[in-house]
Amino acid sequence: MCGIYGHIKKNGEENSVLVCLEGLRQLEYRGYDSAGIAGIVAGNIVSYKAVGKVSHLDAIVQASPRELDIAIAHTRWATHGGVTTENAHPHFDQNLNVALVHNGIVENYLTLRTFLEKKGIQFSSDTDTEVITQLIAYYYQGDFVKSVRKALSYIEGSFAIACIHKDYPDTILAAVHARPLIIGICHKTGDVFLSSDTNAFMGRSLDIFYLHDDEIAAISRERTEVYNKKGRKLTKITERMALENQKISKEGFDHFLLKEIYEQPTTIRRTLTGRLDSNKELPIFEELTVTDDFLKGISQIKILACGSSYHAGYIAKHLFEAYAKILTHVEIASEARYTDFITTKETLVIAISQSGETADTIAAVQNAKRNGATTISICNVERSSLSRESDSTLLLHAGPEISVCSTKAFTSQLTLLSLFAIKLGYLKGLAKNKVKELLSELALLPSAIEKVLRLESQIQSNSEKYAGYSDFFFIGRKHMFATALESSLKLKEISYLNANGYPAGEMKHGHIALISKNFPTVAFCGNSETLDKLLSNLMEIKARGGPILAFAPLSAQEIETIADDTLYLPETPDWLAPIPYAVAGQLFAYHIAKIHGTDIDQPRNLAKSVTVE
Ligand code: AGP
Repeated sequence: MCGIYGHIKKNGEENSVLVCLEGLRQLEYRGYDSAGIAGIVAGNIVSYKAVGKVSHLDAIVQASPRELDIAIAHTRWATHGGVTTENAHPHFDQNLNVALVHNGIVENYLTLRTFLEKKGIQFSSDTDTEVITQLIAYYYQGDFVKSVRKALSYIEGSFAIACIHKDYPDTILAAVHARPLIIGICHKTGDVFLSSDTNAFMGRSLDIFYLHDDEIAAISRERTEVYNKKGRKLTKITERMALENQKISKEGFDHFLLKEIYEQPTTIRRTLTGRLDSNKELPIFEELTVTDDFLKGISQIKILACGSSYHAGYIAKHLFEAYAKILTHVEIASEARYTDFITTKETLVIAISQSGETADTIAAVQNAKRNGATTISICNVERSSLSRESDSTLLLHAGPEISVCSTKAFTSQLTLLSLFAIKLGYLKGLAKNKVKELLSELALLPSAIEKVLRLESQIQSNSEKYAGYSDFFFIGRKHMFATALESSLKLKEISYLNANGYPAGEMKHGHIALISKNFPTVAFCGNSETLDKLLSNLMEIKARGGPILAFAPLSAQEIETIADDTLYLPETPDWLAPIPYAVAGQLFAYHIAKIHGTDIDQPRNLAKSVTVE
């Protein structure tokens, strides 16, 4: 988490403070605990810091505006140390010579802090970042690059840093280890920009390059030089990138989350666009660089992901097994990164990540690659770190997802994975008429979602009825199990209520002990194959006085004799039902959160991309 931005003015006319503020707004999804900017004026380091969102920092800047030609900036998701102004970045050494911003974690910070404190160095924050700053100042003997290189040689963990020194008033030094940082030079003005994410360069036409592990860039008005660990100068190849300014607006919706929920018929169409052959009878993925011959020979798939992306992977497992007959394992990336990754030449690893920046997913893919696996990533963000690690990338084309709580990316992941499962099925011998049938069912998804969206007011009434409870179970079977998990995560994330999902068959193995009249169960009844079994589970809950809200197909009218409340959703084949049911779950969570008055688009303690372990 945490976002880094920086700017050096050459012939441009923009004030570095305002450039950085704009950059931070684009990076705020990476953390919004605090924000800060530092620059150099007349040989002294000056700074602004604010607890909370970038808008708070903006207000502080407006209260005492300054014109800067060089600045580094940061938006924080707290790891070490509370959410306070002292812990907000940039951090300084005790003599205010160096200012530094950091994304990552210094794992040996306590050892280094103790070492520096023994030398009499005074710390003013609880952060791991301050250790890097003080260490650079400690080793500084007139050569800024050397002191940074020396300090970084002691750092264990991950980092992207940008720092300035008051003796070098027109230079920013930047370095990375396992965290992204991109440098962009404006070909018209010569102004230099740096950012944790290329999307924060929106509206600019820049020649960009990525810093690679253990490289240090010395960026000044006159030149940008990059050195490797040993101090050898490197030649970097730049690519021209002109991202148009995208108007990011709520378009009349109260929240980005609701806007994104409503976008789903369109985003699903976009995910499918261009991915069928000219007769619309076979899926095609032109961007795939792995060959059909390789795909034909796959004997196992490993899916790696976190959070909602993991849920999408779990649902897709059933499809790979049903249609392509390929043994599929789904692993939480933070676990998979530390496993003995058993692969064969016939193993395909699929990493799923909306952002493509989730540290654990990237590390799990690196682990898979070290063990010889072929990797495909499924991402929503172009040029992400995960794409650069993978052999091939399939993009969702769902458009920027602003709300921290994932909705449209999740349903596009499911759509793309469904299409990919059909492709693998076809390569593995699935009959052509079955492929055709599945594709025609897939094509009906956008209209199924439109039908769910038309039920919003009914879903809202149920949210009002259930908003007073503080604990919830979400249950389902087979395709509906991970749908239930996903819906419970939505509710937890944005309403801060206790919501837990489990496979309905597990109920008698412990969960049922919690059932009471104060503990409702939300049942996802969209898997017709297992409906009878689920109904028995619901009877057992009812017998113990637990309130039940059911999301069910119209054909399952018998549910009314069991559930306290039923919301009928469009009839959808079992394998695709997770998508409309997930949309209903999103609306249910949204309306409960709205009643609770939470910060729906940027819920407390969360960040859109989890770039630390
Ligand atoms: C979803 O609502 C969450 N905010 C979160 O679980 C998310 O899905 C997870 O952090 C993974 O992110 P990624 O898809 O960008 O890798």
